[in-house]
Amino acid sequence: MRHLMTPLDFSTSELDALFDLASDVERFPEKYAHACDGKILATCFYEPSTRTRLSFESAMTRLGGRVIGFADANSSSAAKGESVSDTIRVISCYADICAMRHPKEGAPMVASEKSRIPVINAGDGGHYHPTQTLTDLLTIRSLKGRLDNFTIGLCGDLKFGRTVHSLINALVRYPGTKFIFISPEELRVPDYITEMLKEKNIPFEEVIRLEDVMPQLDLLYMTRVQKERFFNEEDYVRLKDFYVLDTAKMELAKSDMLVLHPLPRVNEISVEVDDDPRAAYFRQAQYGVYVRMALILTLLGLA
Ligand code: NCD
Repeated sequence: MRHLMTPLDFSTSELDALFDLASDVERFPEKYAHACDGKILATCFYEPSTRTRLSFESAMTRLGGRVIGFADANSSSAAKGESVSDTIRVISCYADICAMRHPKEGAPMVASEKSRIPVINAGDGGHYHPTQTLTDLLTIRSLKGRLDNFTIGLCGDLKFGRTVHSLINALVRYPGTKFIFISPEELRVPDYITEMLKEKNIPFEEVIRLEDVMPQLDLLYMTRVQKERFFNEEDYVRLKDFYVLDTAKMELAKSDMLVLHPLPRVNEISVEVDDDPRAAYFRQAQYGVYVRMALILTLLGLA
């Protein structure tokens, strides 16, 4: 039995197979409409989510399966003090596969150790968000035709953004990647990541101004300032509108640069950018369904 805890749990060749399957699901959805008949997905969400939970539910429903779960820790027995280990033992009796989001780093991992069904980490604190990374990679591969040789700018909250940490970890495995980290001083990417890049001899730069690096980028990954992980409101208010991507800044970019964003967006991308053909964030949300369909099929051994 296999779980998905970090983006590195799949080798790059396994990822290729997963993305091929996701692309097949995109092209021939009817082929998969009953692939999970009789199967049940449990979504155990101890932290708010719209996209991740609903995209899992949509994915399982489109495969012909059914969904149970909770969207709020207060409506589960966690409110009575139940541990995730106990919860997953019980969920193992009710469902065939589980997607879990938790505010504590490592909680889905703890659950997977006691689970009799595959567990998918749907985001653990500021740590990892592997299914968002699969979504990001599938989007890049589908729209650009490859995953190597990109200069990627990651902009915004690089300190607390788990989607950023996950994506960097995944992209270091593809040759020719160059990272440009764009953040205010207070929200720089954690040291353990820059250390890892230095060790692997992967080029990166850290800058504050987005305008200065815009012309170099093949991909721009925008992120929201992670309000819920700030210790004080004042810092959040000071930093939340540090970056706003607008049409003036888009004019500085390559004509085929892609703008990605895991969503939800707050103010960091002006709505005027939505009509730019380089804005890929809503297409990215669509790819999130295909990749989760492929992941469910793979972890259930139905691929
Ligand atoms: C992200 C998350 O939850 O980390 N959202 C998502 O799953 N698409 C990004 C965010 O909340 O900023």
